[in-house]
Amino acid sequence: MMVLGIETSCDETAAAVVSDTPPFIRGNIVFSQTAEHRPYGGIVPEIAARAHLDHLDGMIERALAEAKIGFDALSAVAATGGPGLIGGVIVGVMEAKAVALARGIPFVAVNHLEGHALSVRLIAPVAFPYLLLLVSGGHCQLLIVEGAGRYRRLGTTIDDAAGEAFDKGAKLLGLSYPGGPAIERAAKAGDAARFPLPRPMAGRPGCDFSFSGLKTALRLAVARQAGAGALAAQDAADLAASLQAAIIESLLDRTRNAIAIFKERCPVGETLVVAGGVAANTALRHRLEALAAETALDFVAPPPWLCTDNGAMIGWAGIERLKLGLSDALDFAPRPRWPLDPDAVRVRGAGVKA
Ligand code: KG4
Ligand code: ZN
Repeated sequence: MMVLGIETSCDETAAAVVSDTPPFIRGNIVFSQTAEHRPYGGIVPEIAARAHLDHLDGMIERALAEAKIGFDALSAVAATGGPGLIGGVIVGVMEAKAVALARGIPFVAVNHLEGHALSVRLIAPVAFPYLLLLVSGGHCQLLIVEGAGRYRRLGTTIDDAAGEAFDKGAKLLGLSYPGGPAIERAAKAGDAARFPLPRPMAGRPGCDFSFSGLKTALRLAVARQAGAGALAAQDAADLAASLQAAIIESLLDRTRNAIAIFKERCPVGETLVVAGGVAANTALRHRLEALAAETALDFVAPPPWLCTDNGAMIGWAGIERLKLGLSDALDFAPRPRWPLDPDAVRVRGAGVKA
């Protein structure tokens, strides 16, 4: 199988060619639109949609060239069908349908979250079921992954996502967009113990997350430190380190609860997996690795370049679905909201905002 994977749900325009036999990733091209959005300190949906339209054809050509194949060698095409910014999702889905129609091959609409959830299996034969901490710019969830298309949500955010906490925190600290990498860089020179920021939800039962209170606490700390002037460089570094520590402690506390539930519900489960853009964070990866060791679980994280949005994870999720006999009709309608676990109670948090 050779599957073209297309990702356009946020601010990366990405295409990849993925195979069901090693090496799985034959071509993988990601164009990050950060320069286009940076002046606004966040993603502007309209700019994103237009940029996807401008860049997608070129990304597909480059992915095919890297894989050394032409359109005629493709067995299927998979594209993110949601959740995400609807303009971008439409661009990717329309392109994928056109390729499928022209070549007479199956089209697979992939849930972006399923792309992240299964991405780990591109680099290691992780067996189902596994416990997944999914942390990205738009989502923050703990899930039991029972198989492709089969997810049980244990917890989700009731307000902001973890990546959003990094991004909004960076903005408050005057750091560049995207905030996660900027905070991680600044935190290296900072003292995480200097500002005692809250660890949201820590100590509470359950696996839900909340980050909006942390944002408020950071805003107050910034105002206190800066006064009427600008934040001193060392203060900004110390605040970045303190924010990163608070987010990580909160994620760890919730994951610890989820591990207990996972062990009870899935005694055969052996693995803790982290995925999504925030999973690129080195400090978080180290802490999760230690938590897994402490609780006798294996820990597997995709490499950082596979954590942030890419087409390979979409192509791979397409392959996993095709292997189950699943594909989609060409009248598939993009889904701005698309929960992985349809039985989970809907909450107000990230990904389900109006
Ligand atoms: O998965 P992703 O690329 O896009 C979404 O699906 O949202 O995740 C992007 C998010 C952003 O919020 C970004 O700040 C965060 O991932 N991120 C990081 C790091 N790299 C990216 N957060 C913390 N540390 C990082 N190194
Ligand atoms: Zn993502």
